[in-house]
Amino acid sequence: MTTRELSPLDRVLSEAQRALDTVFGAPGAERPNPAGNTAELVLEPDERRHSAGLMRINHVGEVCAQALYCGQAAVARDESTRGHLLEAAQEETDHLAWCADRLRELDSRPSLLNPLWYAGSFAIGALAGLRGDGWNLGFVVETERQVEAHIDEHLQSLPEGDQRSRAILRTMKADEARHAENAEAAGARILPMPVPALMAAASKLMKAVAYRV
Ligand SMILES: [Fe+2]
Ligand SMILES: [Fe+2]
Repeated sequence: MTTRELSPLDRVLSEAQRALDTVFGAPGAERPNPAGNTAELVLEPDERRHSAGLMRINHVGEVCAQALYCGQAAVARDESTRGHLLEAAQEETDHLAWCADRLRELDSRPSLLNPLWYAGSFAIGALAGLRGDGWNLGFVVETERQVEAHIDEHLQSLPEGDQRSRAILRTMKADEARHAENAEAAGARILPMPVPALMAAASKLMKAVAYRV
């Protein structure tokens, strides 16, 4: 691997490539899917639809997390912060792939609005990143905590028989908690109001839309 400095054009092109992979590609997971051999029980049509709606929200959540981290990394001044953010984004790729697998098993599909979710989250990440590194890590903590909270809601709400989705969400929840702890340990600052409230409002809107579209 070369260590030459990337030009601004190289950076823009590699960001565009990553965005296209996340939104339209089928990123491969490094770890095996946690659903493994968990039995696929027969779900009623309305249960299947509900499961698919929840897993689509989780998939969008992962698209947004990747875009946020890439937006932050794109403007990070410090190389080690950039590395930390890109590593965090990479770890979300497993989640993205597992949610996409489950959507296929449920005869459903990811959100049609993924390009929009990606673009909006990338912009928010870049804005946050311009405030400096403590903010960057604070954003990671807040994002991970919010994702963890909606995974918890989904674990309650999924149909009783959908143990395959549950297995995936349980592993994701443990990973997100670890991501938040790592960012805290690396010196995250606590985001002032109204930033966490605005992030929660944006995620509520995303969940309402992504459940259906
Ligand atoms: Fe994730
Ligand atoms: Fe995460």
